[in-house]
Amino acid sequence: MSPAVDTLLLAFTAEGGLALPTSALFMGAEPHPALQDWPNLLGWQPFKPRAAAWERAGFHRADDLPSGKWPLVLMLPGKSRDETLSWFALARSRLAPGGTLLVAMPNTAGAGRFEKELAKATGAIFSLQKHKCRAFHATDDGTWDEAQFQEWQHLSELREISGFTVQAGIFSSDHIDPGSQLLADHLPAHFHGRIADLGAGWGFLSAALLQRCPKLTQLDLYEADARALDCARINLAAQPQEISYHWHDVNTGLLAIYDAIIMNPPFHTGQATDVDLGRAFLKVAAASLKRGGKLLLVANRQLPYEAALEVSGLAWRKITEDKIYKILSAEKR
Ligand SMILES: C[S@@+](CC[C@H](N)C(=O)[O-])C[C@H]1O[C@@H](n2cnc3c(N)ncnc32)[C@H](O)[C@@H]1O
Repeated sequence: MSPAVDTLLLAFTAEGGLALPTSALFMGAEPHPALQDWPNLLGWQPFKPRAAAWERAGFHRADDLPSGKWPLVLMLPGKSRDETLSWFALARSRLAPGGTLLVAMPNTAGAGRFEKELAKATGAIFSLQKHKCRAFHATDDGTWDEAQFQEWQHLSELREISGFTVQAGIFSSDHIDPGSQLLADHLPAHFHGRIADLGAGWGFLSAALLQRCPKLTQLDLYEADARALDCARINLAAQPQEISYHWHDVNTGLLAIYDAIIMNPPFHTGQATDVDLGRAFLKVAAASLKRGGKLLLVANRQLPYEAALEVSGLAWRKITEDKIYKILSAEKR
């Protein structure tokens, strides 16, 4: 359970002053035992591991952010400014008249700053702090600045970088990641057969692979962020090859065995660096390669992935490195 959910729920104690609603929408939903008694709680969660945890706990989940009106919208936004502001607007447009918007965020994600932003549109705001997080809520009294919400709503629209479609909040939504670019520059043309892109994001590496490797017969994208995967579908729509899109937690294993796998593995859980996440991706990749199958990955130079490749039965070599990144190539023995 995340400390942000614990803090969010304090709004329903005597200190917070909110009463339990008859129904609620939860954007960025995460489960909590205290939510079990809530009537008509609907969750939306674009990140697969958290969506799966929400469902496992027995809560209702919507695949896409539902339209409708609720007396309460709860929200656990992500890290990006544009995503958080656009979620304020998306939540506002789902509030019934007189409804309450309740947000919780870690202090390190800029909770104080975002509370001030929301107050710009709502005026009065109630705030409490605990567990290094802040929960703040405002109730629609008919005086909210709708023009401000409309401005924020535009931030959720699809946008373009270098000819690719992206959306606020997904990985590398305002520039091509330099590590991914380095990997794209080193993709070998001889990769062939069925290939997987793990943590495929909005499809930058997949697009490069499809362009570079004429003997590729099928490409599988695995990505946990549903919004990024939707962008990938748009970005690769014109490609003639067979492509499958999996909204999937790579840590649960892959759905097929591959001739080659490429990846720029994630190494953050929330705000913190999490080397184990990358190591888990390597292990899953190794288990899903044919004998002789190839793995190509980019990582920050300081991340100690080589030992994990050894342990997983892969023979590896470093193809290149620059001041920040290294490209590792490995083969299943
Ligand atoms: C470093 S980014 C690389 C994105 C893309 N391949 C690129 O090069 O632009 C890592 C990606 O892994 C995704 N991711 C994080 N955890 C995941 C998981 N457990 N399963 C699948 N994808 C995950 C993130 O959403 C993100 O898009």
